[in-house]
Amino acid sequence: MTDVWTVLRVLEWTAGYFRERGIESARLDADLLLAKTLGVDRVGLYLRYDQPLNAEELRLFRARVARRARREPLAYILGEVEFWSLAFALTPDVLIPRPDTEVLVEEALARGPEEARVLDVGTGSGAIAVSLAVERPAWQVAALDVSPAALAVAQGNAHRHQVAERLRFLQGDLARLPQEEFDLIVANPPYIPSADLAGLMPDVRDHEPHLALDGGPDGLAAYRALAAQAPSRLRSGGSLLVEIGQGQEQAVGELFTRAGLQGLFRRADYAGIIRVVGATRK
Ligand SMILES: C[S@@+](CC[C@H](N)C(=O)[O-])C[C@H]1O[C@@H](n2cnc3c(N)ncnc32)[C@H](O)[C@@H]1O
Repeated sequence: MTDVWTVLRVLEWTAGYFRERGIESARLDADLLLAKTLGVDRVGLYLRYDQPLNAEELRLFRARVARRARREPLAYILGEVEFWSLAFALTPDVLIPRPDTEVLVEEALARGPEEARVLDVGTGSGAIAVSLAVERPAWQVAALDVSPAALAVAQGNAHRHQVAERLRFLQGDLARLPQEEFDLIVANPPYIPSADLAGLMPDVRDHEPHLALDGGPDGLAAYRALAAQAPSRLRSGGSLLVEIGQGQEQAVGELFTRAGLQGLFRRADYAGIIRVVGATRK
């Protein structure tokens, strides 16, 4: 065996190593980490199979492989992820936006008026707020998070997608929403019951911020706070739309109805799981 580490040899070795470590998407992850290291896309990688890596490339790549082997999510190592066909910068201060959340964006776009004032509660990377602002040039979006580090990431993403002038960033607790009236309040809040956090996949449990995951003893703390405030923060006809965890639709629906909201609706994701619950102020 030659000592030359060509692109193909490095990929095959790394994919095998990841497989041994129980990483399911072993070859894809190896490809994406090496493509990032060499500054090319995946096709560019295939065109360079016989090319040897130089010492600096090998050093950088090894460091990234070691991070992934410790189950750090690929998106944090790459520093970005795609959501709503837009590239979002990420740091470990923010949840990695999930494709499921695009269903919430779709519902908000379908339900908001042409000119809307929108509040995104728990904005994280800004995935929801920025996607809505990109799609609806007449919408003004306030993005709230308790984490200043998350807000800094969201702000960077708003600039990246040239919507910063229509976004307002608010640092604060969702238990005290701004005293304003909105046409839409959207949220993908923390919703995992505290006791379930320990059983999550290591990639999530050990690397994503618990602030973004922990929904309190029954997972419903954020929904309770949002339901209680929605009637005074929505204009008449305005809607509250939230992403929920699997099986939470009944409990969240009851919270919304008991708070006096009407026209309860639900929306499933593409796997058929109810992901969005919403209701409207009369
Ligand atoms: C599940 S993440 C959602 C992030 C992003 N909206 C998304 O969909 O990818 C929840 C977010 O809520 C924020 N958060 C947690 N507790 C909060 C609180 N009490 N007040 C405001 N934001 C909070 C977290 O910092 C985190 O960014």
